[in-house]
Amino acid sequence: MKQEVPLKHSLRLVNNGPVVLVTSRYEGKDNIITIAWCSPVSHEPPALAIAVKKTRFSYGLIKGAGAFVVNIPDIKLLDKVIFCGKHSGSEIDKFAACGFSKSPAKYVDVPVIGECVANIECKVMKDMDCDSHTIFVGKILYAVVEAGLFTDHWLLDKVTLIHHLGDKYYEKSGTSIIT
Ligand SMILES: Cc1cc2nc3c(=O)[nH]c(=O)nc-3n(C[C@H](O)[C@H](O)[C@H](O)COP(=O)(O)O)c2cc1C
Repeated sequence: MKQEVPLKHSLRLVNNGPVVLVTSRYEGKDNIITIAWCSPVSHEPPALAIAVKKTRFSYGLIKGAGAFVVNIPDIKLLDKVIFCGKHSGSEIDKFAACGFSKSPAKYVDVPVIGECVANIECKVMKDMDCDSHTIFVGKILYAVVEAGLFTDHWLLDKVTLIHHLGDKYYEKSGTSIIT
């Protein structure tokens, strides 16, 4: 069961920079892309940014629909994270290939990956051309997280998130330090 995360805390779902699976839907096509370049960018309104290379199939879907969902996988989904980062939705249905369920989002017409521990629904506020990549800034409309894994921050003794160090190098989230 997932509990609603207050918008003022929703940025903290990505504050530690986990690898995310971004879902999109446009003109009858649903897709998933693995994204390491995801960051909070505004408190008021809560907003995050993702950098998507223009050659990705997801680029056209997100640009066309003006919405996306950031789905946060835990370590159990590492093989699927790598799969979604190595195959294009222009050739395969990654939902079917990964066995992911498609749940409806609350505020955007984009499928949510139920198997991920958190889901953040975003509406594109602006996009910025950055040569190879485009930065999509998403206003967070709604966020949920699996109960027991997050209070006003991730409980890292209860959940292990994935971090990307580049290329074939990954890291597991570790211990929180409360100051
Ligand atoms: C760990 C990991 C992180 C990635 N991060 C990004 C990223 O931040 N931005 C991006 O455009 N592509 C990123 N990629 C590459 C895309 O996920 C990959 O090209 C994917 O196949 C594109 O899917 P699509 O064509 O269906 O959109 C990453 C791949 C991996 C494995």
